[in-house]
Amino acid sequence: MIHGVEISDGKANWYRNRYVATPLLDVDEITNENRLVRGNSLANTHIVGHAGKVLALQETQVPIELTTELDTVGPYDFGGKLERNMTAHPKICPKTGEMLFFGYGIMPPFLTYHRVAANGDLVQTEIIDVKAATMVHDFAITENYVLFLDLPMLWDLKKLSQPGIPISYDESYGARIGVMPRTGNSNDVRWFEIEPCYIYHTMNAFERGTKLVFHAPKLVGYTSVGMKNPPIPKLHRWTLDLADGSVHEEQVDDLGVDFPITSPDFVGQSHKHGFAAEFDTKGAPYILGYHKYDLETGNRSAHRLGAGRTGSEASFVPSQNATNDDDGYLMTFVFDEAEGKSELVILNAKEMDDEPLARIHLPVRVPTGFHGSWIPSEA
Ligand SMILES: [Fe+2]
Repeated sequence: MIHGVEISDGKANWYRNRYVATPLLDVDEITNENRLVRGNSLANTHIVGHAGKVLALQETQVPIELTTELDTVGPYDFGGKLERNMTAHPKICPKTGEMLFFGYGIMPPFLTYHRVAANGDLVQTEIIDVKAATMVHDFAITENYVLFLDLPMLWDLKKLSQPGIPISYDESYGARIGVMPRTGNSNDVRWFEIEPCYIYHTMNAFERGTKLVFHAPKLVGYTSVGMKNPPIPKLHRWTLDLADGSVHEEQVDDLGVDFPITSPDFVGQSHKHGFAAEFDTKGAPYILGYHKYDLETGNRSAHRLGAGRTGSEASFVPSQNATNDDDGYLMTFVFDEAEGKSELVILNAKEMDDEPLARIHLPVRVPTGFHGSWIPSEA
């Protein structure tokens, strides 16, 4: 179910929710078999706008196109050019308007890269050579490169007919970050070995001379998808040097965070600030608040949601005529358990504190979810 609020001229015009009308809505039970049939998307992970299309995404499937009023149009394969699945975390370059993404396969090819021009044409597809079927949830881009994560969370096809998602951690696989020119191919990928870990989400990456700087929350001790009491990731920085092939890794902070974001105007560009959601360490995924990182000093400031309130991933909305990477707002749906109600909360990204700039009171509860986007009407 997709939840949306339309905002214009300082007013919230509507809130609505719509089920994404995929064939899985009509099955008695969702299994690993029926959810891998092409078009049977859960469409539950992310929603993006690009080249006039609104796409609901789930990583083992093709995108599902929606209208701007959240009605389902149907599976979207870029005019027949997308033969396989699409990650839920494509990256839209603020300079070129391109949408860059990948899809991973549980059968060969295990990793495929795609580049979509600003006008929506899928103009490049490359099979990237990796050893096995791993779960690749996200990647990163810089001005000239894409960064692939080849990490040891492996699919076990023998367990596909069993309940649960058959993905588990096998450190013997190793861990690598692959750097490829955006218009390159598999032969151009330079692989950098890193300490074994898992990374669900990337904050951003950018170039600094011959180096690539990449920030993401890093998971250690994550043994399987669906494990009980999973560890909470911590923000790390990897610096990859294209000149000498070296990797430098450092922990930025010891707070447990995920859902890292940056201004969409600075995706792939040098940035000073990033934002992430703080997760409760005492139980199920439960967001306590949002932190703004100064990546140069390591300092952070917070918006805390308060007792009995939790949210989903925040979306960064740049101000009109923004020049800095914190000129803008964070928006998120927040659920208040005691009141049984939800609101869309808007925070000032420039000066994070506990008081929202605005709250849009909603007529129903919005369950906590994964990701979301601010999609400007001109997109
Ligand atoms: Fe995600």
